[in-house]
Amino acid sequence: MIKRPIIIDTDPGIDDAVALAIALFNETLDVRLITTVNGNVSLDKVTYNMLRLMKFFDKHVPVAKGASTPLIVEPVDASDIHGETGMDGYEFEEPDEGMLLDDHAVIAMYKEIMNSEQKITLVPIGPLTNIALLFRMYPEVKDKIEEIILMGGSTSRGNASVMAEFNIYADPEAAKIVFSSGVPIVMAGLDVGLKALVYPEDSEILKDMNDTGHMIYHLFKKYRGGSFNKGLKMYDSCAVAYLLQPDLFETVDTFVDVELNGELTKGTTVVDLKGYLKKASNVKVCIDVDADRFKQWLMENLKKCK
Ligand code: BDR
Ligand code: CA
Repeated sequence: MIKRPIIIDTDPGIDDAVALAIALFNETLDVRLITTVNGNVSLDKVTYNMLRLMKFFDKHVPVAKGASTPLIVEPVDASDIHGETGMDGYEFEEPDEGMLLDDHAVIAMYKEIMNSEQKITLVPIGPLTNIALLFRMYPEVKDKIEEIILMGGSTSRGNASVMAEFNIYADPEAAKIVFSSGVPIVMAGLDVGLKALVYPEDSEILKDMNDTGHMIYHLFKKYRGGSFNKGLKMYDSCAVAYLLQPDLFETVDTFVDVELNGELTKGTTVVDLKGYLKKASNVKVCIDVDADRFKQWLMENLKKCK
């Protein structure tokens, strides 16, 4: 079986940790590289978290450190959701710094993509700064990317501002570069992320499922993406779920742009569901998810972890 080669760009992040666990232990995926980006917390913190996860999972995928700030806007963070460390709630062992490549994330992605025989799928689950820099510095990579399956955006309201979702809000200019890149994009945004919930009874099962489930249970106790009792939002796992099980989602092909100038709406994904702008479709937008099947999928996949 030929495994599907992917690069994950991430800012762990508690829901990132869940998505990473599923991807790293999936037998059909070949995770070639993981790149980190400033987002939920600072670049140093998310990179440290990524290395802590890698050690915990006992995996040896190279990790490259990327952008420490957005392209233009000032950094915002989500430590109110993920805790001061970005992954509060579990005592990880000290990580192995040797997993960190000397290359910057953009250079590491460029090398991996250009040297690969198969086209690579990018799975960004944080702000899009690294991917935008990659496209600006090395536009030739675009032809060697199968598709981008990203977590970000919304067809309606936001979670970082009235209208904007966090990953797009955190670096709107980068998002605009990526959405207008011409590379096929799947957008798994808030329309599905808000419905991709894990409930207390699921968390209780995770607690004793395996080491990963136990670790995630403790992160969930601190995670404020939703509430432990009413449902925790597995935003980033939606991108990995689309990658592995696209029939969980209802999608629409349409034109998407990013608002950069709105006084109240900067960072909003403008999803032209009714064709007002008369532009060709550039994004497959996930507009709905079968929440029960998603949850079942998530639990089954976490069972495959260490
Ligand atoms: C996104 O924002 C982050 O806090 C999560 O990790 C996810 O990538 C959800 O809006
Ligand atoms: Ca994330």
